[in-house]
Amino acid sequence: MKSLINKNIILGVTGGIAAYKSAEIVRHLKKSGSSVRVVMTSSAEEFITPLTLQALSGNRVSTDLLDAESEAAMGHIELAKWADAILIAPATANTLARLSSGRGDDLLSTVSLAFDGPISIAPAMNQAMWKDNRTQENLENLQKKGFKICGPGSGEQACGDVGLGRMLEPLEILELFSSSFDQGNLSERSILITAGPTQEPIDPVRFITNRSSGKMGYSLAEAAIEAGAKVTLISGPVNLEPPPNCNFVSIETAKEMHEAVMHHVKSKDVYIGTAAVADYRPVTFHESKIKKDTDKSSLTLQLQENQDILKSVSELNERPYLVGFAAETDNLLSNAKKKLKNKRLDLIVANDVSNKEIGFDSNENEVTLITNAEEKVLEKQNKKKISKKIIDFISSELT
Ligand code: PMT
Repeated sequence: MKSLINKNIILGVTGGIAAYKSAEIVRHLKKSGSSVRVVMTSSAEEFITPLTLQALSGNRVSTDLLDAESEAAMGHIELAKWADAILIAPATANTLARLSSGRGDDLLSTVSLAFDGPISIAPAMNQAMWKDNRTQENLENLQKKGFKICGPGSGEQACGDVGLGRMLEPLEILELFSSSFDQGNLSERSILITAGPTQEPIDPVRFITNRSSGKMGYSLAEAAIEAGAKVTLISGPVNLEPPPNCNFVSIETAKEMHEAVMHHVKSKDVYIGTAAVADYRPVTFHESKIKKDTDKSSLTLQLQENQDILKSVSELNERPYLVGFAAETDNLLSNAKKKLKNKRLDLIVANDVSNKEIGFDSNENEVTLITNAEEKVLEKQNKKKISKKIIDFISSELT
């Protein structure tokens, strides 16, 4: 089975006797490194309890279309935005018919309609129902629409019949399901990414910093790892766990980030500067805490410019493909284009940080990718999906 590390998977469970095997599917999905949210139809609950699947997935199981506990009570939209892929196992004949006709009258069918990624289905039904022309027509229609069909298998069925229609075994389903993910379009590449803020100390208890949670840089690192790249992540202080399987370097100041970048950038194919690097640092570091002077109502700090890391990398003889980020509050595109030119970048990712719903700290972003040849808007979506699209774009530029 191919790696499903860091993937967000919705497992749809519908009402067939094979529903008991969904417990094992959840277990294998978790073991392969993915996060799983289970969506059950009401008839599935007759075969296996939500509590079992909740305990195995570690997440609340969703059953109702109108979900008071989800943000804006629209669980189907939130789930569709969260997921990287949907697997429906078992999928009954009724489920195939409803998906094929585009019904949206329960949670699973509406999530499937709202979701724009890959959907895999593991059919499970009586052999006569499977052979029926209407089921076969629904199947053909779903295949034409891009649904991946995993199975069914042949053999003795719960009702005593023998023939095609029983659900494949969990590992056989996951083998087919995992192959629906793009694997390793950056498998020969090494990528250096900076993330988070830098901190420029004033005295032992104070520093100047920039806003950055590190979410954008860390999710780009995850997306690059998922695409098969070898990733080095150089990060300022943030409250995030470094992604597994990356070479992680922790720094505090812009000077340390500059040194770390110049050390690690050799033989890298791509450099992505997501970090919000402080442009200035205090000229003097006070060894002791600066005491509040009751006679003075103001304090003057003298600052000096930090070296521009991106610029230093762009001046190397053998420079990698260079990606900068522009966090702007005004004139987003024209300011970003100036940085593309002045820093001699191959690509700049422009984000509007005046909008509180995207950019800093937020889980979502909306960006414009700008090269010398084109501009491409990536509409508002979570940073994980944006990251995957940015990595796909970079990968297409390298080929
Ligand atoms: O971390 P999050 O909360 O998820 O937020 C993400 C983000 C908004 C911080 C990120 O998407 C972003 O836009 N990062 C760059 C922010 C920024 O400081 O931009 P800038 O205009 O100052 O710098 C432009 C580019 O030059 C950046 O790629 C920066 O890393 C780089 N730079 C800046 C200064 C410097 N001394 N050296 C540099 O390499």
